[in-house]
Amino acid sequence: MPIVYRPAREQDLAPAQELVVRSVNDLTERHGFGPMASLRPTLFQSFSLKDDPDGLWVAEDAGEILGFAFSWVCGDLWFLAELFVSPDHQGRGIGQELLKRTSDHAQKNGAIHRALITFTFNTVSQGLYIRHGMFPRLPLHNFNVTREVLLKRLPEAQLRHAPLEDTASHLQSLAHIDAQTLGVSRAKHHRHLINESGLNGVAFYAGDDCVGYAYISPGGHIGPLGVTQPEFIGAAFKTALHLAAHSGSANISAFIPGTSDATLRIAVEHGMRITLPMVLVSTHDFGNWSQYLPRNPGFM
Ligand SMILES: CC(C)(COP(=O)(O)OP(=O)(O)OC[C@H]1O[C@@H](n2cnc3c(N)ncnc32)[C@H](O)[C@@H]1OP(=O)(O)O)[C@@H](O)C(=O)NCCC(=O)NCCS
Repeated sequence: MPIVYRPAREQDLAPAQELVVRSVNDLTERHGFGPMASLRPTLFQSFSLKDDPDGLWVAEDAGEILGFAFSWVCGDLWFLAELFVSPDHQGRGIGQELLKRTSDHAQKNGAIHRALITFTFNTVSQGLYIRHGMFPRLPLHNFNVTREVLLKRLPEAQLRHAPLEDTASHLQSLAHIDAQTLGVSRAKHHRHLINESGLNGVAFYAGDDCVGYAYISPGGHIGPLGVTQPEFIGAAFKTALHLAAHSGSANISAFIPGTSDATLRIAVEHGMRITLPMVLVSTHDFGNWSQYLPRNPGFM
């Protein structure tokens, strides 16, 4: 039977995530990093499917999902959150067909910037994206530290902070910070993070001014984190480390752009180790990466 490419449905999301986990672990194990992915609830995929179903596609053969693609759009930015093909079916053109369909999503929305984050060591994905006009631009490293090690060097919280709420004033501050860092508003994504994700969001203040935000997961992961000016990134990251260390999680992690000198220095000084090297790939230069830490390769 020929492979069918069709828009994803809610009931596809769980099996699609199983495929994503298999595909990530096959890749990271082949490259000596061991299994890096585990199954998580499909909250962001579900939110995005309701918000903009044109961005989610499956490749299917006789009822079996062989590939999955998921993109989102904010303003003039199209972001490819996931593109994965089942390990036994890679190299047969499925990835290219899925990429074509999600690229139509970019075109339909008039996106100027197309971007994604992929594995630095995946020659196939990077080659495929270069062929589609998206070029490797920015290294990003996932860092991790045990709570025990971090507690020995724990920084003081350096900025006043308050829980993020779904209020006009907080959403306005968040939109302003994202405009400064990423060039687009991600108001819909903040509403999702604040109301549905189970993450703890905080706003950072210098005096009365809201100068940044961060989200911290119950599992100790920091991100996204954004600040209005590069000079606040160090204080914001140290405050987030402080909050994450007190969240009770056994590990604390963050995803740090390779051009964010201040954050990288703080991460290493606090015993954090690089666990996975990744790279941002995009059509054009965009974003102020000394002011923003992405959440993960999919949410960005
Ligand atoms: C990356 C991935 C989605 C691609 O899907 P696929 O179905 O395997 O790829 P396709 O067969 O459609 O296309 C492969 C293309 O990659 C490119 N490619 C492959 N190896 C390459 C290399 N060493 N150098 C440069 N380009 C290369 C070529 O353009 C090739 O197309 P061609 O064979 O027609 O020349 C899939 O391999 C996968 O799931 N990999 C593991 C997970 C992953 O890294 N996903 C991307 C996360 S953002």
